[in-house]
Amino acid sequence: MIVTTKELFQQAYGKYAIGAYNINNLEQTMGLFKGNVESKAPFIVQLSKGARSYTHKRMLEALMQTADEIFPEAVFAVHLDHGDEETCMDCVDSGVYSSVMIDASHYELEKNIEITKRVVDAAHAKGLVVEAELGLLKGVEEDVVAAEHVYTQPDEAEYFVKQTNCDSLACAIGTSHGAFKFSGDQKLRFDILEEIQKRLPGFPLVMHGSSSVPPEEVRRINEAGGDIKGASGVDASQFLGAAKLGVTKINIDTDGRLVWCRVHREFFRDHPDQFDLRGPGKVFMPEYAKFIAEKNVLLGSAGHLDEVRTALKK
Ligand code: G3H
Ligand code: 13P
Ligand code: ZN
Repeated sequence: MIVTTKELFQQAYGKYAIGAYNINNLEQTMGLFKGNVESKAPFIVQLSKGARSYTHKRMLEALMQTADEIFPEAVFAVHLDHGDEETCMDCVDSGVYSSVMIDASHYELEKNIEITKRVVDAAHAKGLVVEAELGLLKGVEEDVVAAEHVYTQPDEAEYFVKQTNCDSLACAIGTSHGAFKFSGDQKLRFDILEEIQKRLPGFPLVMHGSSSVPPEEVRRINEAGGDIKGASGVDASQFLGAAKLGVTKINIDTDGRLVWCRVHREFFRDHPDQFDLRGPGKVFMPEYAKFIAEKNVLLGSAGHLDEVRTALKK
């Protein structure tokens, strides 16, 4: 059942966070749905601009509709990750997406508001909901590179949400995209979340860049021929604390890529005579499902599927 992120957030707010997982292909789709259904978690499928152009945007949309048929128990949102205005409008018209993210965070405040508002108006008119962003994550966000974190300002967040009427807000609190998040101790600015929650009680917040980059995963990749140095991620024991402060969506992409990389490197290292893509694919799908199920336990979303389905059945 495809639902909006807003409907999922209403169930989760203050208690747990919904996992928002980026996928690009068929094997990830199968593993993702299996892992969420098995751990009984509602979830969000994230499709980025890069994922949409990897094969064809319609291929991903068809995958979502088919997965909905194959896994009738699943309750999920189909969400555009880090969209620009044009891509958001395309998703609004697709008939498949239930949620879009307009990421105009690299523009100055008033221009961010202006663009976000246009997307909100178009999306709401068709029953979709909108995530917007204020502040910049250090590193790469789609096509934009920020040298340093630009933390979200709580006063601005309140003003921005009231001006745009967006449905959720991605906040910059010290996480970043990719596998190299912290050079020293990790400092997540939960004080900023606290201040935003005071100004916007009950309003859903989003944490991007939340992969944990497990050292064991990196070690296995390197042992199987990889060369990933200095990787580090977000401590997953922080997830539930963030959820209490209004974070209802936690974005995870890099960790799934690491699982993919580890499985494929180990498979071909251990089976040097093989070249059939289905060999590693058959290992990857259940491994990815296991990874998703374990992550949902850390997010607190595991076990909530039946209650959410009952609450949302229209
Ligand atoms: O925020 C970025 C996501 O991890 C998506 O990455 O644009 O390479 O698909 P991508
Ligand atoms: P990670 O790179 O930490 O997985 O973050 C993904 C993300 O924020 C997608 O929008
Ligand atoms: Zn992101």
